[in-house]
This record gives sequence, structure tokens and C-alpha cells, in this order.
Amino acid sequence: MGFILAAAGSAVGLGNVWRFPYVTGENGGGAFLLIYLGIVFSIGVSVLIAELIIGRSTQLDPAGAFRKLAGGAWPLVGYMSILTAFVILSFYCVIAGWTVAYMAKSIAGSVLLSDLEQVGSAFDTFITDPLEPVLYTALFVGLTVFVALGGIANGIERAARLLMPALFIILLVLVARSVTLDGAVEGVAFFLQPDFTKVTWGTLLAALGQAFFSLSLGMGAMITYGSYMHRHDDIAGSALAVTVLDALVAVLAGLVILPAVFAFGATPSAGPGLTFITLPSIFAQMPFGSFFAALFFFLLAIAALTSSVALLEVVITYFMDEGEANRTKVAVGAGVATFALAVPASLSLGIMSGFTIGGNVLLDALDYMTSNITLPLGGLLVALFMGWSLKHKGEEEFVDGSALAPALVSAWRFIIRYVAPLAIALILINGLGFI
Ligand code: TRP
Repeated sequence: MGFILAAAGSAVGLGNVWRFPYVTGENGGGAFLLIYLGIVFSIGVSVLIAELIIGRSTQLDPAGAFRKLAGGAWPLVGYMSILTAFVILSFYCVIAGWTVAYMAKSIAGSVLLSDLEQVGSAFDTFITDPLEPVLYTALFVGLTVFVALGGIANGIERAARLLMPALFIILLVLVARSVTLDGAVEGVAFFLQPDFTKVTWGTLLAALGQAFFSLSLGMGAMITYGSYMHRHDDIAGSALAVTVLDALVAVLAGLVILPAVFAFGATPSAGPGLTFITLPSIFAQMPFGSFFAALFFFLLAIAALTSSVALLEVVITYFMDEGEANRTKVAVGAGVATFALAVPASLSLGIMSGFTIGGNVLLDALDYMTSNITLPLGGLLVALFMGWSLKHKGEEEFVDGSALAPALVSAWRFIIRYVAPLAIALILINGLGFI
């Protein structure tokens, strides 16, 4: 149970509440949701199981685990994951900073306007400011380093076990408020009625990337979590529980944001700001709105903090396993480096918006590069490693502790050996436009 909650704490975060609704909005709604869930419950859960197996059997961090199990070029997968963790952490802290800012602004009452245009322009003014969001980013990076260093990571995780059910309940209340807004039906239909004419390779890549991002896959984090598992702990049951919880929170967030988008006459494809321009309008239409808004953004910030601490931990563990003994030095160094990348990421929405990579401003480019390239690539390599290098050794580890019907083990083997590698490769090649 403790393991499931810790792994779910890493999985549930901004990926569910911030990223999922806006990516769904950008990719046409219902069909995207179906494809997303399809990927999550086939490739996602199978790769999650594979990462847990690698971690539990070696009791080591990603680089160490690959080194022990295989050698050759495999430890490179571990290195790629460290770099990915660092990049994700940097833009993650920018968005988490927005969450903290919106908590403060909700208390002050300055963002809870019922007129969407005003909410949108308040948001724009905030994120394009050269100073304010950067300060909140600094605050959040500092908090992450402090938690990782202060030895209170366990304390935060324990607190999160109480607070996450609260976030879940508020989400339920918000769903009720959002779907009953005037004009919300259109948004519910957008989210739940699939229209497959809009599906392209890009849609598939976005769903794949979102699945990996949300489940914290493809970058070794779940290998690290697996290494905390005891021998004979139930891998299959834990993986399924984490996957179901994570998907549930994402669907709820979608049911909050998307109906409201249509009720307020916003555009679903508005991009990374979508959650921040619709939520305040919903709160503005609720009794005790500013209290609930502050509470909600507080809980979301805590969810983000458990994720950011886990991301930093990936980096810290790597350097310490490589022989750097001073944890403080590593954590502070990683924090400073993270902030150094987070600053231009934040400024890329304002004064540095002229600088683009492949048509994206820096923040979007970092997000795209990790979610849509390095995470799926990491997942592909994990699947190949499990299916073709570890083979029966991995399977023995899998069934140890899980009461599994042989048919399920076969299904998993088939997905890990054939479906996941082929599907990920195809989606990557076509989605990135190589063909
Ligand atoms: N899954 C997290 C979220 O949805 C983000 C994330 C990706 C993450 N990779 C991670 C968190 C590794 C912790 C560790 O917000």
C-alpha cells in the first residue's frame, strides 16, 4: 500500500491537471481520450511493469540497474534518463510556480474574474512578466531542493497521502460545477464523443507522450521506485493500481476544464495556459470561490512538489552512485542548474518569445522534446531490453509475488516484445515527420 501511494504520488501531478486537459484540447477531444486510455492500459501499464521489474530485481538506480543486468551500451539508457529528468524538472518548476502564484492570487482575489477575457489577460500579463513568474519558479525550485535535502521528503509524502484524497474530492466538486455550467454540454461532448476524422500520427504521438509523461515512464523514475519494493511485493497489482489512479485523475481534470472551456467560450486548443484561464472562471462562479481556489491550487502545488522532488531525486541518486558523496553539494548544484534552464523557459513566454526551436518557444520545446521524443524512446528501449535481453529472467521476477493467470503473463510478454516496440517506433517515426 505504501509503495502504491508513493508511486502514485510521483505519477499524479501537473501532468494530469495541467498537461492532460490542454493536450486533449489541442488534439480534438474524444478520439484523443480513447487513444490515450488505449495506450495507457496496454503499452503504459506494460512498460510500468517492466520498469518495476528492473528496479525490484536489482535494487538499484537506473544506470546501476542496466550496468548490473546487461552492460554493453544499455547503461546509456540510464544516462539519457538523468538528462530527461533534469529537463522536465526545469519546465515543471515554471508551471508549478504558476500554481503557487495562483494560490496567492486567489487569496488576494485578484484572478477570480468571471469574465474569461479578463482572466485570460490577467494570465497573459502574469506569464509574460519578466520578473514575477521567475520569482515563483525560484521559490518552487528552492522548495524542491529544501524538501530533498531537509530529510523531509518522507514527511511531504506522508502529508500528500492525506492531501491527495482532498485534491481528488475537490476535483469531484469541480466536475459537478463545471458540467452544470450553461453551455457545458458541448464541452462534455467534445471530451467524450470521439471524432476519428481528426486523428493523425501527431495525435498518436501526443497521446503516447502524454501517457509516458503522466505515468513517469521512460526515464528510469519507476526503476528507482521498483528498487524500493521488497522482493515478493505484488508488481502487477501495484502497476495496475497506479495506472488506474493516474488515469482517473486525468479524466476528472478533463471533465473540469473542457466543459468550462466551452461554457465560457474559450478555445480548447489554447495551449499550456488552458487550465489557468478556465479554472479561475469556474471558481468565480462558486460560493466561497476564493477559499476553494486557494485550497485547490495549494493541493495542486503539493502534488507538483511530490513529483518535482522525485525528479530531483533521479538526478541526485545518479551523481551519488557515481561516487560524489556530498548530497548537499549535488542537490544544490542540480537546483542551480535547473533554475538556470527554468529562467529562459519562463522568459520564453514573454521577452524571449522571439527565440524558437522548431517553431516552439523554449518552454514548449523542452516539453515537446522530452514528452514526445526522449520519454517514448526510453520506453522503447526498456521494452526491448525486457523483451529481448532479459526475457525469462524478467518474467520470473514478474510472477514472483503476483498471482497472475498465465494468459495475462503471455499478454504482457506479447506487448513488451512486439506491440510496444513496434507501436512506439512507428508512432515516433511518423509523428515526428520522418516519413
Ligand atoms: N508524472 C508526473 C506528472 O504527471 C511528471 C513526471 C514525469 C515525473 N516523470 C517523472 C514525476 C518522474 C516524478 C518522477 O506530473
